[in-house]
Amino acid sequence: MAMGSLKLLMMLLLLIESTIFTESSHRSKQKKVDGYGDSVFNVISFGAIGDGTTDDSKGFKQAWDFACNSSAASSPTVLVPQGKTFLLQPLTFNGKSCSTSNYITFQIDGKIIAPSKPSAWECKPNCDHWISFRKCDGLLIQGSGTINGQGSKWWRISCKNKKKGFVIADSNNVEMRGIRFEDSPKMHISFERSTMVHANNLTIKAPSNSPNTDGIHIQHSTNVSIHNSLIQTGSVQLFLSWSFSISLCIYIIIDFSITSGDDCVSIGNGAKYINITNIKCGPGHGISIGSLGINRKTEQVEYVHVKNVSFHGTTNGVRIKTWQGGHGHARNITFKHITSHASTHPIVIDQYYCPHKHCKNQTSAVEISNVRYEDIKGTSGRRIAVQLSCSESTPCTNIIMKDISLRNKDQNDDTSSTCFNAHGFTNSRVEPNVPCLQKHDHL
Ligand SMILES: *[C@@H]1O[C@H](CO)[C@@H](O)[C@H](O)[C@H]1NC(C)=O
Ligand SMILES: *[C@@H]1O[C@H](CO)[C@@H](O)[C@H](O)[C@H]1NC(C)=O
Ligand SMILES: *[C@@H]1O[C@H](CO)[C@@H](O)[C@H](O)[C@H]1NC(C)=O
Ligand SMILES: *[C@@H]1O[C@H](CO)[C@@H](O)[C@H](O)[C@H]1NC(C)=O
Ligand SMILES: *[C@@H]1O[C@H](CO)[C@@H](O)[C@H](O)[C@H]1NC(C)=O
Ligand SMILES: *[C@@H]1O[C@H](CO)[C@@H](O)[C@H](O)[C@H]1NC(C)=O
Ligand SMILES: *[C@@H]1O[C@H](CO)[C@@H](O)[C@H](O)[C@H]1NC(C)=O
Repeated sequence: MAMGSLKLLMMLLLLIESTIFTESSHRSKQKKVDGYGDSVFNVISFGAIGDGTTDDSKGFKQAWDFACNSSAASSPTVLVPQGKTFLLQPLTFNGKSCSTSNYITFQIDGKIIAPSKPSAWECKPNCDHWISFRKCDGLLIQGSGTINGQGSKWWRISCKNKKKGFVIADSNNVEMRGIRFEDSPKMHISFERSTMVHANNLTIKAPSNSPNTDGIHIQHSTNVSIHNSLIQTGSVQLFLSWSFSISLCIYIIIDFSITSGDDCVSIGNGAKYINITNIKCGPGHGISIGSLGINRKTEQVEYVHVKNVSFHGTTNGVRIKTWQGGHGHARNITFKHITSHASTHPIVIDQYYCPHKHCKNQTSAVEISNVRYEDIKGTSGRRIAVQLSCSESTPCTNIIMKDISLRNKDQNDDTSSTCFNAHGFTNSRVEPNVPCLQKHDHL
């Protein structure tokens, strides 16, 4: 018994020594490679090759594990070096049992790509995303690198495609800066069940035939901000006309466009205290709250501020959409300093959201209240620039419109509005006129 535990102790000591040894040999290696200090874990030093064809997942995972348990006094950094292309299989960076008390920096200066064919994805046993960070508290993801999901082959089989690109889940205090995202299979970035997440200076691009490639999706998350970013994720019209050639998939494709669509930013259930500022959006669907209340669910979104956004040829501008039959609320929402460049419908509230042909008429609805539109200008692609379709049983209340000027992109034509069951106020500088709101000059 005593002998046994002594052996065990020695083995343990050996194990610890060898871990320290490998860690320091990794460190000295990477010093040679890039000249960074002790707390930098270059994926190359952990076996990643970066030739764009070798699977580098293991090297990334190991670099993360070392960074996550680094005892260095400074913040540990996982480095993805410039000038190389790293192929990654679906991968999760878990922060749950990290022992570092510092935040971890993930410095992405190189390019990261997904397998180019859906059949080459190794999902064990299955996965709904490509790269995710989970259970992290204190994470900075930054750099001048690119994350490319090589989604084009997924888009062709979009009836089977549920793969999100890049997910931050169950995490707190996350910052993302500078990275460029391209061609995700489905939504590019998803923030889920997280708090204090700040994205800045991101670029997100996918071509116009990419279905359901939302830019950034937010759900069950509080205190999230997105600033200074460019989001171009395609347009639905091109996609639909294109998808009809694949008859078997049609029903399912339509079904997918229910849950995502390709919004620049989509704000889903459980989002609260969300700031979105200085965004250039389009082509794409615009910025959407919802859809909320599908299958009679109770869903809620509140305290959303969208400020200084320009829409370029988007199908919608700022939109709130809810299904008939839902419960819950969307409230305390502000859209301010918005410019529309020919977006099809710049302002939309739709409580009859129905991307199918037929949706059952139902009385209950997600309640929409306290929505403020201020300083919204530019051109509308269609005559109806403002569309407020609220529920009969649960009308929209306290809808405020101040200083709105939306002209028709076709200069020979006017703009108009539709307005059902919406209550609130407009000042005298609102064009087109929104007749169901009351005039009020001090808003
Ligand atoms: C970090 O160390 C803890 C123990 O301190 C261990 O439980 C955990 O598995 C380690 N994490 C990684 C990613 O190596
Ligand atoms: C934004 O990111 C790009 C690319 O990473 C970088 O070159 C640029 O300096 C960043 N801009 C700001 C204002 O940080
Ligand atoms: C959102 O903006 C408000 C007002 O500028 C600020 O007080 C708040 O901290 C911001 N929240 C986030 C999550 O950035
Ligand atoms: C989130 O923001 C709200 C409003 O700014 C604030 O009251 C709350 O404390 C913040 N939550 C966290 C976790 O910081
Ligand atoms: C508004 O956002 C754009 C980016 O779309 C930025 O260039 C501009 O400086 C912002 N304006 C203000 C007043 O912050
Ligand atoms: C639903 O209600 C609308 C408006 O009241 C009505 O025009 C439509 O026929 C109804 N549809 C069904 C399927 O009952
Ligand atoms: C949020 O909205 C609710 C209901 O619409 C309203 O009573 C409340 O005053 C609003 N809160 C703020 C801070 O605007």
